[in-house]
Amino acid sequence: MFSKRIKIKELLAQEPQGQEVIVMGWVRTFRNNQFIALNDGSTNNNLQVVVELGKFDDELLKRITTSASLKVTGVIEASLGKGQKMDLKAATIEILGDSDAEKYPLQPKKHSLEFLREKAHLRFRTNTFGSVFRVRHALAFAVHKFFNDKGFLYMHTPIITASDAEGAGEMFKVTTLPVDGSASRDDAGKIDFKEDFFGRATNLTVSGQLEGELGATAFGDIYTFGPTFRAENSNTARHLAEFWMIEPEMAFYDLEDNANLAEEFIQYLIKYVIDNNKEDLEFLAQRLAEEEKLLPQDKRSEMGLIEKLEFVLNNSFERLTYTEAIDILKNSNQNKKKKFQYEITGWGMDLQSEHERYLVEKHFKKPVILTNYPAAIKSFYMRQNDGCETGKETVAAMDILAPGIGEIVGGSQREERLDKLEARMKEMHIPTDEMWWYLDTRRFGTVPHAGFGLGFERMVQFVTGMTNIRDVIAFPRTPGSAEF
Ligand code: 4AD
Ligand code: MG
Repeated sequence: MFSKRIKIKELLAQEPQGQEVIVMGWVRTFRNNQFIALNDGSTNNNLQVVVELGKFDDELLKRITTSASLKVTGVIEASLGKGQKMDLKAATIEILGDSDAEKYPLQPKKHSLEFLREKAHLRFRTNTFGSVFRVRHALAFAVHKFFNDKGFLYMHTPIITASDAEGAGEMFKVTTLPVDGSASRDDAGKIDFKEDFFGRATNLTVSGQLEGELGATAFGDIYTFGPTFRAENSNTARHLAEFWMIEPEMAFYDLEDNANLAEEFIQYLIKYVIDNNKEDLEFLAQRLAEEEKLLPQDKRSEMGLIEKLEFVLNNSFERLTYTEAIDILKNSNQNKKKKFQYEITGWGMDLQSEHERYLVEKHFKKPVILTNYPAAIKSFYMRQNDGCETGKETVAAMDILAPGIGEIVGGSQREERLDKLEARMKEMHIPTDEMWWYLDTRRFGTVPHAGFGLGFERMVQFVTGMTNIRDVIAFPRTPGSAEF
């Protein structure tokens, strides 16, 4: 019977008063054959279990090794030692699972994040990953709370699709056809997908947006929160091949409404974690400060992690257009001194992350919402702005850029006018016939609507201060790597 166990977080919140308890967890350390630091994952704080000398068999004590799992019963008393308010005086100790100290890959010392990535199956048992994943959980919960409280409907959009929502061609194929070249081919020599499982070519979704729009044009406000997949060969600290995205989609919203919601949402998530995960945030702030001590002065953050989060919470985001941003970048000393890897060539160019980071970290020193990008560098579904100069057509797009991260949100008002949307799709070689269902929303009761996508891992990075995106998802999928 395991159900009587108390979690260590709950226990540590109580006052020591001789209560009899049952705890279970994993051994972090065992000092002097007397003090076990026991952790059960509910908090980074260990429970000190005191093992009275002579009370237990030597054979049993030998098995209390790092990461062995234990069931301990006993009485809680005020601690005589420093560093903890209570001890559990052990009455019985049961080894639930042995852990061979010689073979256990994690030693009770500091390991590098790179090393821990190779041991991702065990890294949850460290303080850093304990904190990161509890914060990740809290953020996921807060996402649902935010939208539920606002009356949004949570919609599950398909993982397997036949369309490319972003039109960027970065898709993983899904097929049951043989991959050894023996799949049957049509008269033109192309693989005959009629023979495939779905009778057509399919892929893993890059975004739930298009289906989200179908929901929004019936329910008004919806959001998705699920895994998305991109076969882009980007080996960076901010890209994953499999990442989670939150995509709200709202009928009767324009670009400004959209930006307002996104800003409120990000601030809500930050506040939720500050209010509910103080202990983990303090640990992560400390960790980040130590990591930054190793960096040259000019690479260190001006603010600590919690200070930074409070700053973002208490200051509104800077809003400007793409055109204004190009002017700022063009006139920056950084550009004049040719310190950007990619020079600012002028209106129409796509912004590189170094440019985005300059705007956010050096120029404005706060999150930035960039709007109204050139149509040529954005997706087909974005609303075409009226009254643009020929050659300088823009769309009602918005990207939110965050300090240390760069782009954290991408969104837009959608093109709700059938003729304009169809024309744009043809220009961009998006198959209008295959997307008849998408176009139907514009045929039957079309409405102004807008939405955005928040990259969940980038948000977790921002809140936890982890520099590499591989350290905020349990088992990262990146080019050349799909272990675990
Ligand atoms: O800007 P993106 O590509 O926008 C969309 O997919 C739209 N359909 C969203 C919408 O309007 N409903 O992606 C949105 C966000 C990015 O801002 C970024 O935070 C994240 O998703 N993202 C990634 N995160 C991790 N790894 C990747 N490879 C990512 N690609 C995008
Ligand atoms: Mg984007």
